[in-house]
Amino acid sequence: MTTSDHAATLKILVLHGPNLNLLGRREPHIYGTTTLAQIEDRLRELGAELGAELEFLQSNHEGELLDRLHARMDTVQGCLLNPAALTHTSVALLDCIKTMPFPVVEVHLSNIHAREPWRQRSITGEGAKAAVMGFGWRSYLVALRGLVALLRE
Ligand code: DQA
Repeated sequence: MTTSDHAATLKILVLHGPNLNLLGRREPHIYGTTTLAQIEDRLRELGAELGAELEFLQSNHEGELLDRLHARMDTVQGCLLNPAALTHTSVALLDCIKTMPFPVVEVHLSNIHAREPWRQRSITGEGAKAAVMGFGWRSYLVALRGLVALLRE
């Protein structure tokens, strides 16, 4: 039996912002053809392997993402967040991330630094513990591994 067998289950919130419900059909040359449901299945599977219980929410509404973070403030240990377009606009989400007592890892399918100039600025990223981008759907898995490793330290 290894030490990790004794580690407590981690609760991790996974939030997806606007338009990510359309993954698979949305600009597949940029975001690929994997759907959000497939990404969540792969995350759930990896979470089980790593001892992390995941809760998912996709919303096209900024306030709904904020409300879920507030509601889970004292019950989760970390968060993976793809703020999607809100990355580049949302001071409200940045303020919220800074207020959370747990680490938030920002995730992007695409490498935002290799895209339009206005997309290269992440407002939310200023409050994030770390960011993973450019690996397509795999960004989420890399981010989950990183976050769990950090939380188990
Ligand atoms: C995105 C990048 C954002 O600029 C864009 O608005 C998205 C998706 C990504 O995952 O690559 O909706 O967050």
